[in-house]
Amino acid sequence: MKSVIINCDPGIDDSLAIMLAVKSKKLDIAGITTTFGNTSVEKTTDNALALLEYLGANIPVAEGAGKPTEGKRVKADYVHGENGFADIVLPHRSLSVPESAEDFIINNLESGRIDTIINTGPLTNIILAFKKKPEIMKKLKTLIIMGAAITEPGSITRVAEFNFFCDPYAAEAVLHTDVKKVIIPRDITQRAILKPSDLSRFGDSKTARLAVRLIKYYQKFYINVLGLEGNPLPDALTVGYAINNDFVETREMDIVVETDGVHTHGMSIAERRGGIHEKEAKPNASVGIKVKAEEFIDYFIETLSR
Ligand code: RIB
Ligand code: CA
Repeated sequence: MKSVIINCDPGIDDSLAIMLAVKSKKLDIAGITTTFGNTSVEKTTDNALALLEYLGANIPVAEGAGKPTEGKRVKADYVHGENGFADIVLPHRSLSVPESAEDFIINNLESGRIDTIINTGPLTNIILAFKKKPEIMKKLKTLIIMGAAITEPGSITRVAEFNFFCDPYAAEAVLHTDVKKVIIPRDITQRAILKPSDLSRFGDSKTARLAVRLIKYYQKFYINVLGLEGNPLPDALTVGYAINNDFVETREMDIVVETDGVHTHGMSIAERRGGIHEKEAKPNASVGIKVKAEEFIDYFIETLSR
């Protein structure tokens, strides 16, 4: 069983990802670290605490960055609701962990408690940990990142995926650390779509009932605003990969992230030219290129319905 920290910005799909991680019983979750992203870090932290209490999961939460390493915080309230949780209000305990997210990550790596981080939000907390204790961060075996759009259009802009756009400086820096990185990009997350007709497939578990409420809210944006046939589950697929690598086929790629572009801020650019360029490329991540969408969606529904 992998011992992990989930670094996230719940956020509806982050919340669905946490549900999958908890209900799968395949991951030893040492903690949740929160960041700004889909909403403010205060709200992502409240949402993580409320969700874990609802799930009856005794998992510590450490609050992280409230803004990117440079620039202003982007907002996505139009997707996830004003409180970042489909405007559903659940009771929650107070923050249990005094450490910052980066200290919580560092301490759990130093003690050997974790070897993997699943990252489903901006990468600010991760680069703060690397800057603070680079030696200890070398103990991180795998960093699984939801982020990037290689051949797929962007989301928050024509070319940039949201997590990388929120803090491209962190994304570019993390992509050039030595830790093994796996990237779950929009190129595959947009291929595993949950349709309204799938909602009736969920069982009547306590988790499924909340998941369906969150998904119905989420689908309003993807169907009514974007005109899609349903919603993707980017963060849940990232957790799904951590649970079972077979859901995703990856390829080694050399990726950089634009930090200074007027129109390309946060864009992820892979070396795809081939020939002499392929020989000169320095692969820095295993990037998802194919997803077993039907198998993953089936697993997601079955697991949350338990
Ligand atoms: O691009 C998708 C990512 O942006 C997901 O992590 C979602 O939660 C949003 O933060
Ligand atoms: Ca997220």
